[in-house]
Amino acid sequence: MSVIEKISSEEILDSRGIPTLKTTVTLSNGIIGEACVPGGTSTGTNEALELRDGDPNRFNGNGVLKAVENVVGPIQSSLKGTDSDDQEKIDRTMISLDGTPNKSKLGANAILSVSLAVAVSTAANQKLQLFEYLRGLTKISTGFAVPTPMVNLIEGGKHANSGLDFQEFLVIPTGFMTAKEKLNAVGEVISKLEVSLKRNGLDGKLGQEGGFAARFTSNEKAIDFLKKVLEETFKASFFSIGIDVAASTFYQNGKYKITDIENPLVANDLLDFYKKLQESYNIFSFEDLFEEDFDSWKLAKQKLSPASILIADDFTVTNVDLLRKIIADDSIDGVIVKPNQIGTLTETLDFIEEAIENKLKIIISHRAGETMDTFISDLAVAVNADFLKAGCPLQKERLAKYNRLAEIESYLENKQ
Ligand code: PGA
Ligand code: ZN
Repeated sequence: MSVIEKISSEEILDSRGIPTLKTTVTLSNGIIGEACVPGGTSTGTNEALELRDGDPNRFNGNGVLKAVENVVGPIQSSLKGTDSDDQEKIDRTMISLDGTPNKSKLGANAILSVSLAVAVSTAANQKLQLFEYLRGLTKISTGFAVPTPMVNLIEGGKHANSGLDFQEFLVIPTGFMTAKEKLNAVGEVISKLEVSLKRNGLDGKLGQEGGFAARFTSNEKAIDFLKKVLEETFKASFFSIGIDVAASTFYQNGKYKITDIENPLVANDLLDFYKKLQESYNIFSFEDLFEEDFDSWKLAKQKLSPASILIADDFTVTNVDLLRKIIADDSIDGVIVKPNQIGTLTETLDFIEEAIENKLKIIISHRAGETMDTFISDLAVAVNADFLKAGCPLQKERLAKYNRLAEIESYLENKQ
């Protein structure tokens, strides 16, 4: 056992050039743990609050100096001397110190940075790999499984100035065995995609998650292009396509407006469009296919082929109470898990446990604004997640997370 001796924190920049926190926990024996918090661009309305300074003279109000002060001030005072092994007690202490339903007093960014840094320091103190330590905080008793990457190669929505409405066009290397084979296969696809985009005059900028911000004139054209590149590179059965629609970003006055169809669509018509995409391109996963509208999700589950999975992100926001409500409807097949949507490791693990009990697919995810922190890769292995969604490896903050998966895989192989 070791107790928390010191908690320090500083403002750093994320991959978008927007401030975030890097927090360091020092234990009484000198062991340290660090964690950097990510930030979302298309955030769900029910996410815990990311505390920003609001000072227009610094980063358009996006500074996090108040959150840093909350870490080194009240949070440090309340946790100093606490046994670092007791993650749940530490997280619950911060939750009650904050006292608000959405962590708006101290900031979910401030609280999460401490929560994760405590786990990192304790893993080091117990001489465990982070994923091994995190496994001990779960009820899972099976062996470790390394998740399959879900890789965002073409970007739209709020993440890119590409004119595409859908936020992410993802490839999923489902036909390969090991994480290394999967990542190499993704690398081959990226090379081919880059050449094909250039040949068609569609190359240029990258989006926030490192995928191509290619200016296709419709969402379907982007999917069609991706499908052709996949087929030129590998046998069709080796890769699947997924889309994160992030539909709330193009929802206005009760309708959805996409470039594929001239007039704005009601939910039912948008669902028909998804059905057409599913049939033409064998879409494996649909994320956030509607805004927060229970009836449309339920209808989608009935109308779309069960070969696809429907994934909730903005709808469930890593919040176990919201998840329980939605599970009752039997309208989703999987959930996105983003620790910063809820603000502590303990609550993130509660959410995952509930999802596992209900046989939902688990997709651990990064955010649009990232750092080199690879905590989510360890978390994904710790909970035997089905997928890790960490953007396009052309951006180093994303590559680091996939590389950590491969590193964990090697570690597990060498242990056998
Ligand atoms: P965000 O994007 O980090 O901007 O929320 C990721 C996602 O929607 O999955
Ligand atoms: Zn999403």
